[in-house]
Amino acid sequence: MPRPQPTGGSPGTLTGASRFTPRLEMRPFRRRDLDALVDAAADSLSDLSKWLPWAHSGYGRRDALVFLRDSVSAWGEGRAFDFTIRYLDRPGFHVGNVSAWFISRQSRVGEVGYWIRSSETGKGVATEATARILAVAFDELRLHRVVLRIAVGNRGSERVAEKLGFTREGLLRQELQVNGVWMDHSIWGILEEEYRNLRPEYADEGWLTA
Ligand SMILES: CC(C)(COP(=O)(O)OP(=O)(O)OC[C@H]1O[C@@H](n2cnc3c(N)ncnc32)[C@H](O)[C@@H]1OP(=O)(O)O)[C@@H](O)C(=O)NCCC(=O)NCCS
Repeated sequence: MPRPQPTGGSPGTLTGASRFTPRLEMRPFRRRDLDALVDAAADSLSDLSKWLPWAHSGYGRRDALVFLRDSVSAWGEGRAFDFTIRYLDRPGFHVGNVSAWFISRQSRVGEVGYWIRSSETGKGVATEATARILAVAFDELRLHRVVLRIAVGNRGSERVAEKLGFTREGLLRQELQVNGVWMDHSIWGILEEEYRNLRPEYADEGWLTA
């Protein structure tokens, strides 16, 4: 494919306002989230390290601080948008992360990713938070297509993609190295039109505030 040329028009950027679901608040990170983030990561490292390259066994305050700094600048630059997920009734407790970022601004293609604190998995948090981030991706960033990459074997994450109506589109061989091992990833996609058709079902499931 030839190198893309500018065609005018660009996808949107995001305000730093909180986004809500019936159970959750999602907002940009602040420096003072450091302790809550370190706690959540420490409680979850054995699960996260199976799938996520950054979640090495020595992950600690310094790594979390590097992430927070990058997260704040990425948001400011309109490069990527990380949200801390909080329960409405427990705002000081970091439940997990959900993010959206651009793959191609020109083609209006983006990606989403997430992780949930181990003690809070199995409660529908990833699905609910990601449903809300898809609204951000399509309504606010004006994306046309959103993808998710999932390591082969990560059945929990595949279920999240399935419940949200993503289509499994193919296999990316040796896409990412985790713990020194190259792992195949499946790629899943959802188009704007599909999201618009599914949105009433998301609301019926209770994932979106009406
Ligand atoms: C994968 C992850 C995000 C799921 O978060 P969650 O909040 O538990 O997700 P939800 O509760 O919304 O949905 C999980 C679904 O997967 C299912 N599931 C979880 N583990 C499973 C497993 N090992 N086998 C089969 N199904 C599984 C759950 O039963 C649920 O499906 P259901 O609603 O049909 O019962 C979380 O476990 C996590 O953060 N894992 C580590 C990091 C990670 O994998 N991030 C994603 C990278 S792509």
